[in-house]
Amino acid sequence: MMDKIISLAKRRGFIYPGSEIYGGLAGTWDYGPLGVALKNNLKNLWWQRFVTSREDMYGLDAAILMNQKVWQASGHAADFSDLLPPRSDLKNPGSQGQTFNLMFETKIGATDDAAVTYLRPETAQGMFVNFKNVADSFHPKLPFGLAQIGKAFRNEIAPRDFLFRAREFEQMEIEYFVRPEDWKKFFEYWRKQMLEWLTDIGLVPGQIHELEVPESDRAHYSKQTIDFEFDFPFGRKELCGLAYRTDFDLRQHAVASGADLTYRGEVTGDKFIPHVIEPTFGLDRLILAVLCSVYDEDEMNGEKRVILRLTPELAPVKAAVFPLLANKPDLVVKALEIYRSLKLQATSYKLSAIVFDDNGNIGKRYRRQDEIGTPYCVTIDFQTLEDDTVTVRARDTGAQERVAVSELVDKIKDKK
Ligand code: GAP
Repeated sequence: MMDKIISLAKRRGFIYPGSEIYGGLAGTWDYGPLGVALKNNLKNLWWQRFVTSREDMYGLDAAILMNQKVWQASGHAADFSDLLPPRSDLKNPGSQGQTFNLMFETKIGATDDAAVTYLRPETAQGMFVNFKNVADSFHPKLPFGLAQIGKAFRNEIAPRDFLFRAREFEQMEIEYFVRPEDWKKFFEYWRKQMLEWLTDIGLVPGQIHELEVPESDRAHYSKQTIDFEFDFPFGRKELCGLAYRTDFDLRQHAVASGADLTYRGEVTGDKFIPHVIEPTFGLDRLILAVLCSVYDEDEMNGEKRVILRLTPELAPVKAAVFPLLANKPDLVVKALEIYRSLKLQATSYKLSAIVFDDNGNIGKRYRRQDEIGTPYCVTIDFQTLEDDTVTVRARDTGAQERVAVSELVDKIKDKK
C-alpha cells in the first residue's frame, strides 16, 4: 500500500524525494505542483476553521531563526533529545546510550565567534515570544489564541515512513491562553474541536484513536497530553496532539528575558501568567493520512482504475475540461473557451485548479483525473455546439449528466 502511494505521489507530481538527482537527502521531501495544491487546500481549511471564522484567534508568521536564548528558556537546548545507542548496543535498546539533541544548529553572521542558534524544532515558541506584542496591539480578553503554520526542523536519528518522520516538516499550531482554573474545560473543548476537524477533512473516525500519554513519555513542558493516533498502513502512529503546557513557557520567557508576560484580569485587576492549551497538527502527517485514506482501486466499465477519493475542497484539481475529439477544431476551440472562462471564475468562486486535457482517448483522460482525485470531468461534444450544454462526469460513480454551460460553476463549486 505505501509503495503504491509513494509511487503515485511521485509519478503524478504530488511529492518527490528531496534533492533526488543527487541521490536524495534523507528525511526531506519536495512537494510538486499537485502536492503543493493539496497542501495549500488543507492549510486553508485549517486557517479558515481555527483563525478566520473565530473571534478569539490571532494569526502569526514568526521567523524560523530565533535568538538562541529562546531555546535555553524553553528547555529545548537542554532537553530535546533522543537516545543514541552506541553501535555495540543496537540490539539492546534498554542500555544507556548517548543523548543527542534533535535541534539543527546554525551560525548567525560571518565571523568565527558568530552566534550559534537553531532551526526551530516547533513553531510554538514564535507564539510565546510574541504574546506581549499581540496583547499590546489588540488587548484580547482571555481566553484567546495565537495560531501559526510554518516549517519546523528536527535532526531525527531515523527518518522513515515517507512523510511521517522527516527532518524538515510543517506544523499548524495553536497556543490557547486561559485562566489557570479553566484549563480542564478548554482541554476538553479542544479535544472535541480537533476530532471534529479531522473527520471534516475526510478521515474516518474509526481510524483515529486517542492516547493519554503517560507522564514518563510526556514532553518536559506538559502536565497532560493526548496523542491522536491514526491507523497508517505501517501501524497505529501519532498524527497530532493536544497538550496542557501550563504557564511553563511564558513563565520561563518572563524570567529569562525580563519582559512582563502577565495578564491583568478585567474584573478584579489581578495579574497572572495565563496557562496554555496547545492543539498541534503535523501538516505532512495529515497529508499522508489523507492520501492513505483516499487511495482506492476499483473497477469501472470492466476496467481497473486507481482513484483518490479526495473531498472536493481538498482536491488539487477541481475540474478537467476535455474536447470529446482532439482532431475536431470546432470542439477544441469551444472546449478552450469554456476552460478559460472557468479558470477566470475559479478565484472568485474559490475553485482550485481547472485543467485542460485533449491527450489520448476520453477513457484514458478519465483514468488520469481519477488517479489525482479530480471530482469532475467536463466534456465538450457536438451537442455543445448546438445548445451550449456539456456532460459533467462525477469521479466516484462515473455518472454523467448534461449541464448548461451557464450553470457549470454552480455545479462544481464547493457545496459547503
Ligand atoms: N509544539 C508541540 C510539538 O511540537 P510534537 O508532538 O513534538 O509537539 C507536533 O510535534 C506534531 O508535529 C506531531 O504530532 C506530528 O504531527 C508533527 N511532527 C513531529 N515530528 C515530526 C517529524 N519528524 N516529521 C513529521 N512530522 C512531525
